Amino acid sequence: MCLQSLTLLIIFTLFYSHAFALKKSYIVYLGSHAHPFTLLSQAHLDRVAHSHRTFLASFLGSHQSAEDAIFYSYKRHINGFAAVLDDKKASEIAKHPNVASIFLNKGRKLHTTHSWDFMLLEKHGVVHKSSLWKKARFGEDTIIANLDTGVWPESKSFSDEGYGDVPARWKGSCHGDVPCNRKLIGAKYFNKGYLAYAKFPSNSTFETPRDLDGHGTHTLSTAGGNFVPGANVFGLGNGTASGGSPKARVASYKVCWPPFKGAECFDADILAAIDAAIGDGVDVISASVGGDAGDYMNDGLSIGSFVAVKNGVTVVCSAGNSGPKPGTVSNVAPWIITVGASSMDREFQAFVELSNGSRFEGTSLSTPLPENKMYDLISAADGKAANASALQALLCKKDSLDPEKVKGKIVVCLRGDNARVDKGQQAATAGAVGMILCNDKASGNEIISDAHVLPASQVNYKDGEAVFSYLNSTKDHKGYITAPNTQLHTKPAPFMASFSSRGPNTITPGILKPDITAPGVNVVAAYTEATGPTDIESDNRRTPFNVESGTSMSCPHISGIVGLLKTLRPQWSPAAIRSAIMTTSRTRDNTRKPMVDATFHKATPFGYGAGHVQPNKASHPGLVYDLNTGDYLDFLCAIGYENKVVQLFADDPLYTCREGANLLDFNYPSITVPKLTDSVTITRKLTNVGPPSTYRSYFHAPLGVEVSVEPKQLTFSKVGEEKMFQMTIGATSEKALGYVFGELTWTDSKHYVRTPIVVQLSS
Ligand SMILES: *[C@@H]1O[C@H](CO)[C@@H](O)[C@H](O)[C@H]1NC(C)=O
Ligand SMILES: *[C@@H]1O[C@H](CO)[C@@H](O)[C@H](O)[C@H]1NC(C)=O
Ligand SMILES: *[C@@H]1O[C@H](CO)[C@@H](O)[C@H](O)[C@H]1NC(C)=O
Ligand SMILES: *[C@@H]1O[C@H](CO)[C@@H](O)[C@H](O)[C@H]1NC(C)=O
Ligand SMILES: *[C@@H]1O[C@H](CO)[C@@H](O)[C@H](O)[C@H]1NC(C)=O
Repeated sequence: MCLQSLTLLIIFTLFYSHAFALKKSYIVYLGSHAHPFTLLSQAHLDRVAHSHRTFLASFLGSHQSAEDAIFYSYKRHINGFAAVLDDKKASEIAKHPNVASIFLNKGRKLHTTHSWDFMLLEKHGVVHKSSLWKKARFGEDTIIANLDTGVWPESKSFSDEGYGDVPARWKGSCHGDVPCNRKLIGAKYFNKGYLAYAKFPSNSTFETPRDLDGHGTHTLSTAGGNFVPGANVFGLGNGTASGGSPKARVASYKVCWPPFKGAECFDADILAAIDAAIGDGVDVISASVGGDAGDYMNDGLSIGSFVAVKNGVTVVCSAGNSGPKPGTVSNVAPWIITVGASSMDREFQAFVELSNGSRFEGTSLSTPLPENKMYDLISAADGKAANASALQALLCKKDSLDPEKVKGKIVVCLRGDNARVDKGQQAATAGAVGMILCNDKASGNEIISDAHVLPASQVNYKDGEAVFSYLNSTKDHKGYITAPNTQLHTKPAPFMASFSSRGPNTITPGILKPDITAPGVNVVAAYTEATGPTDIESDNRRTPFNVESGTSMSCPHISGIVGLLKTLRPQWSPAAIRSAIMTTSRTRDNTRKPMVDATFHKATPFGYGAGHVQPNKASHPGLVYDLNTGDYLDFLCAIGYENKVVQLFADDPLYTCREGANLLDFNYPSITVPKLTDSVTITRKLTNVGPPSTYRSYFHAPLGVEVSVEPKQLTFSKVGEEKMFQMTIGATSEKALGYVFGELTWTDSKHYVRTPIVVQLSS
C-alpha cells in the first residue's frame, strides 16, 4: 500500500517537474488604465505597450524575451497583455501588486423570420405604430458588435442599400477580404490566442474575418440584419427575415475558429476584440460564446465585459447549451445580460406515418421522400454493423450501421451523443432513404428542425417510444415521412428548450442567472455560403438562410432589442436597459398558463430568469433597478475580493471597499436569497423613468416564506427620482426545503415592474 502510493507520488512529481518547463499562453490583467480614455493618441498607446514589455522584462530578464513572449497588449480600455509563459514565471507575476489577475488563455465554445412577429414587433408582417420597431426607428442610431465566427458580407442582411453615411463617431474598420459598407461597418479578426493554444502555423484559414462556419452570420443578422423578403430554407419558413434592430449598423469581431480539441474561442482573443470594439465606438456587444462558469477574474469575457459596461456598452451573452441539468448556466457576471433559450409558436412539421395507422407530428427542414409509398422501417439498433455496439448503432454513430441491412429503408435513430445532423449523415452514408430521429427522455418535447442531408423527421420522446414499440411489436414494419410544411400559432409557446443552461448560479448563488429568455429554437437567419446548412464537409448544398437552435440564437435576439432601446433611450445605462427588459417580461405562454419546460413541467426562474422578453413593454418599464460601476465594485467587495484587487478595477486608485457592502443590497432586478435559515432584510432602489406616478407593491411569497415590503407605496414626482424600499424575507415554520420561487411587483396600474424572488430554504 505504502509502496504503491510512493510510486504514484514519484510518477506525479516527474510529471509535474516536466510540466513546469512547459510554456502556456496566459493573460495578465492589470486593471484600470491610469489614463482617462480620451487621451488615446498613438504615442500614448505605444507607451502603454512599452510599459507592458518593461513590466514583463522585469520577470523574464530582458526586453527582447518580453517582446517575444507577448502576443497581445491590451492598451485602449483594457489594461494587460497576453503572453506565453512557464508556470513558474506565471506564479511570480501573480504576486506582483499591480496584477489584478493572471489566468490561462482558455478556450470557450460557441454555444428569422418569425420570431419578431411572435414578440409582437410586427403582426403578419405589418409594423403597428405601438411597435418598439417604429418608436425606436428600427434601431438606426445603434452600432451592434458581434463576437463570433465572423461574417458573410455578401449576405443581403448586410447590404447597405438605403443607408446614409456611417456615424461620425465610428472609428472601426474592415480587414482582409471582407469589405465594409454603410451597413456592415466593421470586420476584424483575432486569432493569436487560438494559435498560441493550437500551436500550428497560421494560414489563410485563420487570416480572415470572413465566416466560414455560418454561426457568426446567423447571430449577427439576428441582432441587426436588414429586412430581407423571401427568406427561406429550401422553401420553408418563407417570410421577411430581419434582425431585432434592422436599421442598426453592425460590426463583426471574429474570435472563434474551427474547433481544436473541443475549444474554438479563446480568452486572449475575446479580450482583444472587446478592447477594439469599445475603442471603435460600439453600443452593444453580443457574444454567443461561453465555457464553464468560473471565477470572474479568470475569465476573458467577464473581465472584458466589465470594462465595456464601465464604458457604457451593453454586453449580452448566451447562458449555454448544457441544460436541463441544474447549475449549468455560464456567463454569470452581474454586469452581463445572460440569455436562456425557448421555443416560439412556429413548427416545421414533418409527420411520421406507420403502416398500422399511427401518425406522429415531427419536425425537419429536409427534402421529401422520393416516392409517395410506404418504406421499410428499421431500428438503427437492428441495422448495426458487425463490429459496432447496439448502442452506437441506435445513436447512428459513425461507421456503426451496416449498409446491407439499412439500404433503401427508413432508419430509426435515437437522439443524444453525436450531432443530430451527423446521425442523418451516417444513415445516408449507409444507404438509408430516410431517418426518424426519436428524442431521448431528457429532450422530451423539444424537437428541432434541421436541414438533414436526407428526408427526415424528429419526433418527441413519447412518440419515439411508440415508434420503437411498433418496431418491436411486428415484423412487417413500414412507414412514411411527409414533406415538411410550416405551421404557425402552435401551442404551447414559448416553452423552455431542454438544452438551455439552468441556474442556480454556481459562482455567486446570490445572483439569479440566466436573466431572461428569448427565442432560440428553430431560428431562421442569414448564413454563410462557405459551407452547407449541416456544416458537414460533404454537404454541398448552399443556402443564404439557415435554421439553427441554441442559446447562441436567443442571445442576439436580446442584443437586437437592446439596440432598439439604445436608440430610443440613449441615456439609459446598461443596467437600466437590463432592468427594463427583465421587469417587463412574461412568465405565461400563449395558453395563458405558466411557461413549461421541454418535458411540459412548470418551468422556473432557473430556466427563464425573469421571464420571456416583451420588447414593446421594455421601452416603458416605469421604474428601473439601476447600477453603476461603483455598485459593481461593491459587488466584488461583497463577494470577498480583497480591496487591493477591487482597487485595480476602479478608475480611482484610492478606491476602498465600502464598509458593509452586502450582496443582498446589490441593486439587481431579481432577488435571490441562498441558504435562508431565519430571516433577512434586503434593500433595493428604484429609479423613475416614466411619468410622475404612485406605485404600490404586491407579491406572491414563495412557499414556506414570509415576505413584507416597507414602504408599501412609493410616489415619484419626476424622471430620475430614486426611492428605496426594504423587503424582509423570513422562513416560516413549514418544512419546505430547497428552492422556492415567488415574485414582487410594483405597479401604478399602467406599469408592472415585476421581479422574481428565489429563496433557498435550508435547515
Ligand atoms: C490551415 O491549417 C490547418 C491546421 O493545420 C488545416 O486544418 C487547414 O486545412 C489549413 N488551411 C489551408 C487553407 O491550408
Ligand atoms: C416566398 O414569399 C414571397 C412573397 O410572398 C414569394 O414571392 C416567394 O415566391 C416565396 N418563396 C417560396 C420559396 O415560397
Ligand atoms: C468496423 O469496421 C469497418 C471496416 O473495417 C471500419 O471502417 C469501421 O470503422 C469499424 N467500425 C467501428 C465502429 O469500429
Ligand atoms: C424494443 O426492443 C428492444 C430490444 O428488445 C428493447 O431494448 C426496447 O426497450 C424495446 N422498446 C420499446 C419501446 O418497447
Ligand atoms: C401502432 O403500433 C404502436 C406500437 O405498438 C401503438 O402504440 C399504436 O397505438 C398503433 N397504432 C394504431 C392506430 O393502432
